[in-house]
Amino acid sequence: MLILGIETSCDETGVALVEDGTVVRSNVIADQQTLHARYGGVVPEVASRAHVDLLHPAVEQACALGGVHLGDVDAIAVTIGPGLAGALLVGVAAAKSYALALDRPLLGVNHLIGHVYANVLDHGALPLPAVVFVVSGGHTSLLVMDEQGAFRVLGQTIDDAAGEAYDKVARVLGLGYPGGPVIDRLAREGDPAAVRFPRALIDDGTYDFSLSGLKTAVLRHVRAHRVDSGEKLNVNDVAASFQEAVVDVQVSKVLRAAAEAGIDTVLLAGGVAANSRLRARLSEEAERRDVRVLAPSPALCTDNGAMIACAGWFQLKRGERTPLDVGADPNLQIVPGVGRRASRRPKRRGGTTSTRHE
Ligand code: KG4
Ligand code: ZN
Repeated sequence: MLILGIETSCDETGVALVEDGTVVRSNVIADQQTLHARYGGVVPEVASRAHVDLLHPAVEQACALGGVHLGDVDAIAVTIGPGLAGALLVGVAAAKSYALALDRPLLGVNHLIGHVYANVLDHGALPLPAVVFVVSGGHTSLLVMDEQGAFRVLGQTIDDAAGEAYDKVARVLGLGYPGGPVIDRLAREGDPAAVRFPRALIDDGTYDFSLSGLKTAVLRHVRAHRVDSGEKLNVNDVAASFQEAVVDVQVSKVLRAAAEAGIDTVLLAGGVAANSRLRARLSEEAERRDVRVLAPSPALCTDNGAMIACAGWFQLKRGERTPLDVGADPNLQIVPGVGRRASRRPKRRGGTTSTRHE
């Protein structure tokens, strides 16, 4: 079974061909980061237009690289949410057109569930039940996956998502967009104990997260050291100290969830799962407690079409089909009705452009 996976929820136009849910025949990512970098965040209108230009050539490239014709595809999987409304619409409209023209089933995939299934591409069948930690640009969710496709929500962010916090702090430090990879890199040269930033909610007994106070603390520190002539700002130390505060809370809550649920597998998912400090600290501390941690390879952590094709294949196997009149849902939840935080809904700034960051 050859699945065409289409991902356009944010600023990556991802198209992939995946065989039987596990073998990646091709995985094309037309990234728009240079387009958005000068705005310091994703501009939804720019993203939508870029998806229109990039999507069909990406489909052709994915077929060429995979050595197949479009007609060889058995089903079309596409991200239907959460994400930016206009960006999602481009992928959904294209996927419907391919499904109709080729007379193949359409599989509407939740983007976050796609991130979780990226693990299958690297590790094969998921050991279930598992504690699942989804950390991306728009989400922080701690879940339990009891069986294929069945999730329970333990907790989530009450304000900023993990990736959002990395991107905002990077902006404050003048490091550009996206911020996560740069902070990850600079932090390796910094002292994680240099500045004691707050670890919000670390001992509150819940599985919720809060990062807006930490972001403000970094902002105050940066301002104080830029204005204050005495002490010079050490960007590497600030990056390392910020990242350590984030990772401390994440590791503590994820492992407590595993212990309290009596589950010995943790699955990481989402762009922030590429963070080298999170991966190293979590694996190290989990090993001491006989908990196994699986994470996709860093390239498959961030948005791509292969994870969507993979999740779509599992839906197909369960006999699920998506009707052709399905719409894009920018606020799609993993568990319907649960979730305080909307998805990456852009906030208006200055009346002209809008970004999801700030
Ligand atoms: O999952 P993703 O590609 O898109 C969303 O679904 O949002 O995640 C993108 C986010 C960005 O905020 C980016 O800064 C962050 O993932 N990110 C990282 C790293 N690589 C990407 N954050 C921390 N460390 C990284 N190495
Ligand atoms: Zn994503």
